[in-house]
Amino acid sequence: LANVFWKDKKLLITAGPTFEDLDPVRFLGNRSSGKMGFAIAEQAQKLGAQVTLIAGPVNLPTPQGVERIDVRSARQMFAAVQQCYAQNAIFISAAAVADFALAQSSEQKIKKQAGQEGLTLELVKNPDIVAWVAEQKPKPFVVGFAAETQNVIGYAQDKLQRKKLDMICANQVGENLGFESDENRLTLITAGVEKALTTSSKSQQAVELLDYIAEVIEAS
Ligand code: C5P
Repeated sequence: LANVFWKDKKLLITAGPTFEDLDPVRFLGNRSSGKMGFAIAEQAQKLGAQVTLIAGPVNLPTPQGVERIDVRSARQMFAAVQQCYAQNAIFISAAAVADFALAQSSEQKIKKQAGQEGLTLELVKNPDIVAWVAEQKPKPFVVGFAAETQNVIGYAQDKLQRKKLDMICANQVGENLGFESDENRLTLITAGVEKALTTSSKSQQAVELLDYIAEVIEAS
């Protein structure tokens, strides 16, 4: 099924962290490696899909045959997604997008003052990229991720509904799983159905995710 389904399907993926600059030498970031999103891109391309991969700052090679767009901040990622989403049948939002950006980033390096004991940064909410795509009409089939350290399934179900996603991949972060790790254990959740995968490499998780997306779309 997956081979037939994915052949020539247009798939858009976001992957990696976003970096929110404070000044030319400092940023707010997170520990996403981008490995899960890149693994999905690689496996989908092998199944014959036409893959566009919007990547935050990561140290990973571009999978063969995948069109890659590099971005840095959440706002840049949002702009790239807005450009691309309409040409794609499926959108997988695997990026760990920063929730907040600096209200103002300084053009010059911020200098500490003599005797300064603290620093307050003003942050502003970033756009929710996946929720925005899910609101468009027409819209692609939208798959989100929920990386959590606790209450993983509960938070994921809440996000599925709140962001109006078609599917969400819940994953536990920590214990050698999730961020920075080569292994993962996703639970794939649609309205009403939960499919728990067993722990395996991110490539294997990607294959099973792509199979399941094909199954769900074909059954709808
Ligand atoms: O709310 P939370 O960040 O945990 O939701 C995770 C899901 O939402 C992921 O699929 C992530 O890619 C997406 N997201 C996004 N834009 C944001 C925040 C999260 O697309 N600003």
